[in-house]
Amino acid sequence: MPEKLHHIIEAQQFSRQFLEEELFPISQEMESVAHDPRWVLNRGDRPLGGKIVCQLFYEPSTRTRISFETAITKLGGVALSTENAKQFSSAIKGETLEDTIKIINGYGHDAIVLRHYEEGGAARATSVSRIPIINAGDGSGQHPTQALLDVYTIWKEFGRVDNLRVAMVGDLVNGRTVHSLAYLLAKFKEVHLDFVSPEVFRIKQGIPEYLERHDVSFTVDKSLDSVLPKVDVVYMTRVQKERMTHGMRFGSQGGYRIDQEALNLLSKDARVMHPLPRNEELPPEADSDPRVVCFQQAENGLYVRMALLKMILG
Ligand code: NCD
Repeated sequence: MPEKLHHIIEAQQFSRQFLEEELFPISQEMESVAHDPRWVLNRGDRPLGGKIVCQLFYEPSTRTRISFETAITKLGGVALSTENAKQFSSAIKGETLEDTIKIINGYGHDAIVLRHYEEGGAARATSVSRIPIINAGDGSGQHPTQALLDVYTIWKEFGRVDNLRVAMVGDLVNGRTVHSLAYLLAKFKEVHLDFVSPEVFRIKQGIPEYLERHDVSFTVDKSLDSVLPKVDVVYMTRVQKERMTHGMRFGSQGGYRIDQEALNLLSKDARVMHPLPRNEELPPEADSDPRVVCFQQAENGLYVRMALLKMILG
């Protein structure tokens, strides 16, 4: 009997077996019921019936917060939210994250979805929490549930994750979705990663070393045009302007853009992904190309988060 999922802190904690044997099938099952009003309205025997999940968000969010809240609601639970907790919670009065987490534990909530502005925030929260902490982004650290939905999207689009070549493009030092995705893809066989960024946004230290230790091949490149014809997936990201430190000033998108010319370089079976929100790096004109799947990807977030909550609390 596999151990029940509790905290979700970093992508490295998941095994390939967990993804293939539990997460993907349960996400598919959620996909088949999520929009069925008979299933959704029949709240009494929902997996989260009687459960309260606190959404503690110290940083802005659209998809992550709304998809978690939707997932909780569809599973029959109650979502209580603090958005902008940095300003509207007692954090502004000097309360520590640890104290806030203890208070929510004391109120009898069943889990906390936490987005914090400091790397390591979610891990700190686990040290004082009996109830599961789900990391919904910790500064420029990780965003593991995004990586799970990214890999689920890749698996759905290609029917496999093994033997794919994935380019990650943009702000690879501050972009937490890239960090989690690199760790997660490293669990699969014959995956090749191309990290494409200007020097200032070069892939975060620790990740190349991890990939080397796990025998995952990768390149570090500045030119997008040269990798586009070779890859199966292009994972675009925006420049994390809010995290830029002095000396990191560099255009708004690092100079990369999936325009028609870039699309012409991609193979016909490739896919373009983006965790969103997007800036100039993925113009809306690209959306009509069927290889651009960022909105399907965002929708998959609902199913994957339903599956995770069902596994943790169901
Ligand atoms: C990402 C994040 O918050 O890290 N957004 C998301 O959850 N889809 C990406 C970003 O902000 O660029």
